[in-house]
Amino acid sequence: MRSTIARTDRYARGSIVFHWLIAAAIIVNLWLGIAHDSLPKGWAVMPLHKSIGITVLVLTIARLAWRLGHRPPPLDRTMPAWERAAANASHWALYALSILVPLSGWAMVSGSTVRRPLDWFGLFPIPYLPVSPAVGGAAHEGHEILGYAMLALVVLHVVAALRHHLILRDSTLVRMLPILRVPTPR
Ligand code: HEM
Ligand code: HEM
Repeated sequence: MRSTIARTDRYARGSIVFHWLIAAAIIVNLWLGIAHDSLPKGWAVMPLHKSIGITVLVLTIARLAWRLGHRPPPLDRTMPAWERAAANASHWALYALSILVPLSGWAMVSGSTVRRPLDWFGLFPIPYLPVSPAVGGAAHEGHEILGYAMLALVVLHVVAALRHHLILRDSTLVRMLPILRVPTPR
């Protein structure tokens, strides 16, 4: 039976908002990045991809700053040690990739010899990073490799979340969901 969940065992409201905003932006951007060649030309796919990517970078820095003051609830004490280690390692890898993937994209376009306009949803310009074409070329490689590594880790993360919810039937997914009212035990 799924037990009720105490308010102290849930993620803070702000952590939940950051999680789902960033998750949605990353999923859309993985799709735009991978499928960009086959998407309609009129969609301005790459300007959109770059603007969403820079947004992920800024939101992730803000999320990490927020996390300093809002520690996540402790992992379930019944979880085996290997699983806690795997959960912690994969969460830190997701944080690292949420910084490195957009940063490598930004460095790639900054170091490119063909400079296309770079702006945030057409509202204001984004400065280029001071990188050489050689660094830009390496960043291009990095963006591709890290982008696919991120896709793999996100799939693993979602499978793990669903395993907790549907098979182990614990509170792992629920405590990250934006449920406004926490049920009180009868
Ligand atoms: C969450 C952030 C981001 C994710 C998950 C992401 C992911 C990806 C992926 C998976 C690809 C396809 C790689 C390939 O098949 O070659 C790609 C391509 C690309 N990305 Fe990103 N990206 C992000 C942010 C950015 C940013 C911030 C920029 C630039 C400011 C950028 C610029 C590009 C460009 C120009 C390409 C096309 C490269 C090519 O066709 O050779 N990306 N991205
Ligand atoms: C797509 C990009 C995603 C990223 C970058 C991401 C990142 C993260 C990170 C870094 C944490 C750890 C939070 C912390 O302890 O500070 C986390 C927790 C969590 N994520 Fe995601 N996530 C993503 C998508 C998803 C999706 C689609 C689901 C749902 C199926 C999900 C379910 C969860 C759950 C349930 C937790 C809480 C785990 C726990 O309490 O130990 N995530 N996520």
